[in-house]
Amino acid sequence: MTSAVRAITPEEKSRLQEIGELTALAYLADGLVDHAHPYLPQLRDAAARAAGAELLAMMDGERGEGSIVGTITLVPPGSPFIELAEDGEYELRMLAVSPIERGRGIGRLLTQAAMDRAVEQGAPRIVLSTMETMHAAHRLYEHMGFRRREELDWVVVDNADGSVTRVPLEGGEPPAGAVRLLGYAWEPAH
Ligand SMILES: CC(C)(COP(=O)(O)OP(=O)(O)OC[C@H]1O[C@@H](n2cnc3c(N)ncnc32)[C@H](O)[C@@H]1OP(=O)(O)O)[C@@H](O)C(=O)NCCC(=O)NCCS
Repeated sequence: MTSAVRAITPEEKSRLQEIGELTALAYLADGLVDHAHPYLPQLRDAAARAAGAELLAMMDGERGEGSIVGTITLVPPGSPFIELAEDGEYELRMLAVSPIERGRGIGRLLTQAAMDRAVEQGAPRIVLSTMETMHAAHRLYEHMGFRRREELDWVVVDNADGSVTRVPLEGGEPPAGAVRLLGYAWEPAH
């Protein structure tokens, strides 16, 4: 039994620590990052997400008294966590489910909760990006109604400080070490 999805506040220090560890673990377990990857500290920094965006999580236990089983970050307009969103769009980032809780629909529930909150707040469109190797995530988002939007794809080079540098998608081969991120978008029915 798991709890409903809820927002985690910046004051919930031990929950933030737990969510950061779970996010890092989820990405490490799938080989999406390794221990030296500059993105790892950002995945761990759930406190920054709670302060600068809407950090959502789901816990074990009917009243949410147990361990964190999954998390997602809803990024509203104006947030420092925006990577892709423009003109009032909302963005989803850092969806992660504990490796031992997968395949039970937790990823879908988290995504649905984030989409519902964005719609409540008037989102005209929700966008997100994925790595090419995130096959489970691609399937999940497509089932939730997201559509691939190649025009939203972007190519990045990771910097040692955890930041990323965008490189132009058009024209020639991307530089060595560059990663292509695949864009998806969903619009509420009117
Ligand atoms: C992506 C992730 C969140 C899915 O979590 P989950 O709780 O297992 O997902 P669900 O149980 O809700 O399953 C949702 C859909 O994904 C599919 N799916 C789950 N694991 C899969 C896998 N390994 N391969 C292919 N599809 C998979 C499920 O079959 C389901 O689709 P279905 O309705 O057709 O059966 C989880 O695998 C994860 O944390 N991955 C690492 C981080 C990541 O990739 N995040 C995405 C950030 S953009």
